[in-house]
Amino acid sequence: MKTISFINMKGGVGKTTSVVEVATVLVKDHDKRVLIIDIDPQTNATFSFIEYDDWQKNVEQNTIADVLGMNKHLSSRRDEYDINKAVIKNVSDIVGLDLISSHLSLTFLDLDLSAQAGREMILSRQIKKLEEEYDYILIDCPPNLTLAPQNALVASDYIITPIIPDFYSFLGLPLLKNRVDRLNRDLNIDVEFLGCLFTRVERTVNLHSEFMPKIRNICEEYGIYDFKTIVPKNIKLSEASSSNSPARVAFPDSTGVSAYKTIVNEMLRKLGEL
Ligand SMILES: Nc1ncnc2c1ncn2[C@@H]1O[C@H](COP(=O)(O)OP(=O)(O)OP(=O)(O)O)[C@@H](O)[C@H]1O
Ligand SMILES: [Mg+2]
Repeated sequence: MKTISFINMKGGVGKTTSVVEVATVLVKDHDKRVLIIDIDPQTNATFSFIEYDDWQKNVEQNTIADVLGMNKHLSSRRDEYDINKAVIKNVSDIVGLDLISSHLSLTFLDLDLSAQAGREMILSRQIKKLEEEYDYILIDCPPNLTLAPQNALVASDYIITPIIPDFYSFLGLPLLKNRVDRLNRDLNIDVEFLGCLFTRVERTVNLHSEFMPKIRNICEEYGIYDFKTIVPKNIKLSEASSSNSPARVAFPDSTGVSAYKTIVNEMLRKLGEL
């Protein structure tokens, strides 16, 4: 089992879209068993698969908030929540793709657990119980490095950083790299950058063609792999996100999906699996 967190402190760069599409391609085109963990209180990955009413009726009581020990409906605070209760099997009828949903209450995770020792290690300990069940766990992180994404980092083998090739990403990437290095030291972990992934790229936008090579240079300087395949801006990817179905399923012939298929090949080759 390999665990990969999709992380960038910048918002709206395609983290959620990448998690959803990469996961679906891994299941549909490579026969892998995949779990998505939505650890972002915005719950976007969750609602890429599940309708709100359905979520409220069937899921709300068993989410990542419970896995991380936030909710107090356990018989004793010392009892550990059973992570299997939060796993939703075969989401959007995609056999082999499971999901642990997020919850808005995760916003208060830092406050709730502020006095708890080892609070960064909870997810890591919990997902060990799923070791035999999955080939990949992909974690969709919020655009920050607070306690929830710290839990994701501790639980992860690798990070993928989706990035829009613009000035702010150019500034942000060294900052992110430094932060991750520091967390590696402080939390005594060894999570590795699997790569930067350019998303929402518009070939006709001068800014994008200007900053892509600059950011590739930074990657080289910092020893971070840069995915050669890019994800173009493609309206089908955003249309899918509001349809409770990944673009891989709803629009299998779109340019966005074709890019994600090539990216998954590149990723699997990098991991020595192709
Ligand atoms: N390649 C793309 N082409 C067109 N639209 C895209 C593409 N990738 C993502 N989008 C759209 O851009 C918006 C932001 O993408 P997404 O939600 O994946 O980013 P994010 O990094 O997860 O954001 P946040 O930091 O808020 O969690 C969404 O509306 C999504 O549908
Ligand atoms: Mg997101």
